[in-house]
Amino acid sequence: MKNILVTGGAGFIGSAFARYMTARYPDYNIIVFDKLTYAGNLDNLLSISDEENYRFERGDIADRAAVKLALQTHDIDTVVNFAAESHVDRSILNADAFIHTDVVGVYILLDEAKQHGIERFLHVSTDEVYGDVHEGFSVETDSFAPNSPYAASKAGGELMVRSYRVTHGLNTVVTRGSNTFGAYQYPEKLLPFFITEAIDDKLLPLYGDGKQIRDWLYVEDHVSGIDTVLHKGIPGEAYNIAGEDLRHNIDVAKTMLSLLGKPETLLKHVPDREGHDRRYAMNCDKLRALGWQRSYSFDQAIELTVDWYRQNEWWWRKIKTGEYLDYYKRQYAARLAAAE
Ligand code: NAD
Ligand code: DAU
Repeated sequence: MKNILVTGGAGFIGSAFARYMTARYPDYNIIVFDKLTYAGNLDNLLSISDEENYRFERGDIADRAAVKLALQTHDIDTVVNFAAESHVDRSILNADAFIHTDVVGVYILLDEAKQHGIERFLHVSTDEVYGDVHEGFSVETDSFAPNSPYAASKAGGELMVRSYRVTHGLNTVVTRGSNTFGAYQYPEKLLPFFITEAIDDKLLPLYGDGKQIRDWLYVEDHVSGIDTVLHKGIPGEAYNIAGEDLRHNIDVAKTMLSLLGKPETLLKHVPDREGHDRRYAMNCDKLRALGWQRSYSFDQAIELTVDWYRQNEWWWRKIKTGEYLDYYKRQYAARLAAAE
């Protein structure tokens, strides 16, 4: 492993992975390949922009010529694919871009990887492919039951990865991460959205009764899990990366408010997300057997995260303009009005 193409590396988790890899493996070259959609942000990579083992290329994983050129120019031997449309609510409003990137883009990337003779292909997937888990914990052999257009597009991409392993013998591994949070997360996802709104004393639209359960994973633990699977995962296998810390959304929101010293009266129950999965929960024994363990508890990680958003207004205030405000209006205006 020498030259690693990190697709989607200007987003939240991909940029954390790029920062982690450039520091941890000075002998590897990390080439971030990213379309820079609304969620891609070069500010996320500022801290490594002068590192000798880091490069950035702008491109779309669904653009065959651009992918081919990047693989050839940088003599790539390894691909780690984070590139995706990643927000469930946006997939409910319009799923076009999800099919383009999460399905077609993954196919193009796999096909070019095969033709280029890539030695290792890690695909970043999600616990949402398992669907709503009413009780117990998903294991890697469970069948898929995705419920949102986002989750279905991720499941589609993952099945293409499987087919390139079985049919073409590509050396693939897949990770399925749980709800991830931390620095540089685009402020449309629950925690960064609520933290940044609460700093400004705005109402926080909690879907339904707020009793949905998610398994919270700190971003640094997610990227160390991906590193473990990249180096030690068995070809053809998938690995769950779980925080193993299940919490109700309403409790997560209240913990965050108390850290910020803001009142719980900011919370506003609004009409639920359509098709909203009630609970995600995964078993993580298979990854643990490779030697991985979580380094941060939820309580430590949420404190670090709240502090980061408090101290880095330069990063999120410029995002919360333009397209972001249009999206906010489409997603929340009617919901908040209905809750009045
Ligand atoms: P993100 O939305 O913050 O970042 C996605 C990145 O992909 C952006 O930089 C964007 O510009 C880029 N991108 C989008 N379409 C592209 C295309 N066609 N070609 C090239 N680049 C493109 O997402 P994230 O939260 O960092 O998630 C990264 C990956 O991890 C995704 O595959 C997601 O499904 C998966 N995942 C996320 C979580 C989570 O809680 N955030 C949990 C499990 C798995
Ligand atoms: O589980 C892994 C997945 O986690 C990833 O695959 C996705 O990319 C990532 O976006 C995330 O999906 P969720 O839908 O779970 O995350 P989100 O932050 O959108 O919502 C978390 C929970 O909070 C969910 O139950 C919906 C609820 N929520 C969310 C928002 C944005 C609210 O109640 N109000 C909100 O405004």
